[in-house]
Amino acid sequence: MDRILSLIRATPFGYAEEVVKAFLINVLRTGPIPSHLSFVMDGNRRYAKKMGLPLADGHSAGANALADVLQLCFRLGVKQATVYAFSKENFKRPKAEVDTLFSLMKDKLLLAVTEKEFCENFNCRVRIIGDRNMIPADVLKDLERIEADTAKYTEHTLFFAFPYTSRDDIAHAMRSIVKKVENEELDADEISEQTMENNFYYNGEAEKVDILVRTSGHTRLSDYMLWQSHQESVIEFSNVLWPEYKFCQAWWTIFQWSYFKTLAIQDAEVMELKKVEKESVKERYTDPIPNMNTIQHPPFASVTKVTKPE
Ligand code: FPP
Repeated sequence: MDRILSLIRATPFGYAEEVVKAFLINVLRTGPIPSHLSFVMDGNRRYAKKMGLPLADGHSAGANALADVLQLCFRLGVKQATVYAFSKENFKRPKAEVDTLFSLMKDKLLLAVTEKEFCENFNCRVRIIGDRNMIPADVLKDLERIEADTAKYTEHTLFFAFPYTSRDDIAHAMRSIVKKVENEELDADEISEQTMENNFYYNGEAEKVDILVRTSGHTRLSDYMLWQSHQESVIEFSNVLWPEYKFCQAWWTIFQWSYFKTLAIQDAEVMELKKVEKESVKERYTDPIPNMNTIQHPPFASVTKVTKPE
């Protein structure tokens, strides 16, 4: 399938596809652009089953879909993306599948850094967020090399949540804060939301998440983005299986976010105008009433004393 697609891309159809994509990206650029997108890439195994493929090919198709979506994000100007690549819960899967996933991530990420020059082209660094103690030593060594090699790219960041859960992240932050208080590096009374953020696996480097996408029709958070979702984060549950969630689906998700964000910005502007107007009316009506005895009339308006005729 991939080979057929790359053949099509080498023809005028491929060129036309690129022109349409560039146009659609420019359309999105006319509106607000999210800073941070996050993805729960769910549905790889069901996709493999649906297509009659081995399970590993389902995950591999998932990795290709991710490359497609990230290209859109970074070309558009989205600064950060986080992907839930492996939950701590996923360790309960058969060892063969866990091993496949680990080597796939390592290989695809290496490919992104080296052969396909994805990271260089998009000026994108890769950061692993998660419990590194759970990653096999050989995989961790490669992943940390990828982190070091891409540290020079500063425009975009791909946070790779691996192995990760939000509750583990919160517990990890608490442990590191307690240690800092014990070592008198931190005053307990000064612990704030920002202190928590600085001690997450993100190290305080992540913006709040604007859009969280979960594919495949499951409508749960699965212990992900519990802190990073804020009062304005949009959660998009898509029925599409992750390997089928590509440029068009991601474009539509961002378009909707951008449309509603524009309405919200306009609403806020109207409210601000109304507030200013209200203030000025209030000011007009609270002007002190002039004292009529001291007021100096211009000569033509002065009132002369009327004397009664004798
Ligand atoms: C959930 O679908 C997906 C995962 C547990 C792994 C996600 C990993 C990838 C897409 C590969 C990423 C690799 C790189 C380099 C980005 P599932 O397996 O639970 O499928 P199901 O919901 O159909 O059971």
